[in-house]
Amino acid sequence: MSDTAHNAEGLPPTGTARRDQVRDYYAAAAEAPREELCCPTAYRPEQLGHIPPEVLSISYGCGSPMLRARPGAGETVVDLGSGGGIDCFVAARMVGEQGRVIGVDMTDVMLARARGAAQTVAENLGYSVVEFREGFLERIPVDDARAHLVTSNCVLNLSADKPAVFREIHRVLRDGGRFVISDIVSESPVPESMQADPRLWGECISGAVTERAFVEMAEAAGLYGITLARERQWREVGGVRFWSTTFQGYRLNPGAECVWRGQTAVYLGPAAALSDDDGHTFRRGEVVEVCSDTAARLSRPPYAGMFALGGVDTGDDVGKVPGDESREASGDGCCPTTPGCC
Ligand SMILES: C[S@@+](CC[C@H](N)C(=O)[O-])C[C@H]1O[C@@H](n2cnc3c(N)ncnc32)[C@H](O)[C@@H]1O
Repeated sequence: MSDTAHNAEGLPPTGTARRDQVRDYYAAAAEAPREELCCPTAYRPEQLGHIPPEVLSISYGCGSPMLRARPGAGETVVDLGSGGGIDCFVAARMVGEQGRVIGVDMTDVMLARARGAAQTVAENLGYSVVEFREGFLERIPVDDARAHLVTSNCVLNLSADKPAVFREIHRVLRDGGRFVISDIVSESPVPESMQADPRLWGECISGAVTERAFVEMAEAAGLYGITLARERQWREVGGVRFWSTTFQGYRLNPGAECVWRGQTAVYLGPAAALSDDDGHTFRRGEVVEVCSDTAARLSRPPYAGMFALGGVDTGDDVGKVPGDESREASGDGCCPTTPGCC
């Protein structure tokens, strides 16, 4: 970000104006539920039973990110644009009393509604692990490398500075952490005339980008192994089709070293070949010698199960779960001089 082009909050001027419009829109939607913004989530009734109905009535998501993310016991989850708090409260039950859930939102009224409901949720669960912080997606009020999981439900489309949001997601994720984001995407770029319409911005239409643009921004921020699940057609406006899609990806720091130990990987299909985000191409059924860092990456999501991994595993770092603090991160990638790897 260039400082000169940004205001005291670190946001570009156009972003500030847009954000103020969005905040007004969602302040009103927090006061008076807007049915046309609501969408059916796929959460099961037993996953929602501990949540007060007033939260559900101001649930404005377009997916059910916690169903895909499945936060585990003890994990720290950061939910961006938490609104009335539905996804935070679903996560609270999943992470249990050793976990932590941080909802971030910029709209006072939404935060007040969510904080009010948090008390009831804590009583119903028997423990309190959810907090709501006031802040922006473009400057997430969470320290570096704290989150096992970053989620968001129908919010990134509302940001006028999406590359900044992805950089922030990368910053707050731990090594090996993942993001799961449900959002609205457009099948083709949204025309400028539609982008100027504040109501369509509020309705999660005008700020939408294509799936490809979304993935490119995430990759530019250093996020890895991105998958997308196009779930349902949302609307068609001005001749453009909009979809609800859930994106998933990872932060994986480069290994401290990439050592050749005779490890091998065989891609099992179903495609004829797979190219990973590090530029390796694996043809189906071909035995490829890989270094320790690549072997470790291929053994974990999103590649877990796609490869038969073989060879000697004598090293400390092979198979170690990223995020393990004992695994040192290096900033400059792995084994630059060894052919066949990196
Ligand atoms: C469509 S609602 C979704 C709320 C919630 N995720 C849900 O599923 O009910 C969007 C929410 O994101 C918040 N929001 C939008 N842009 C934001 C930004 N740049 N920074 C922080 N919060 C933002 C709004 O205040 C609003 O509460």
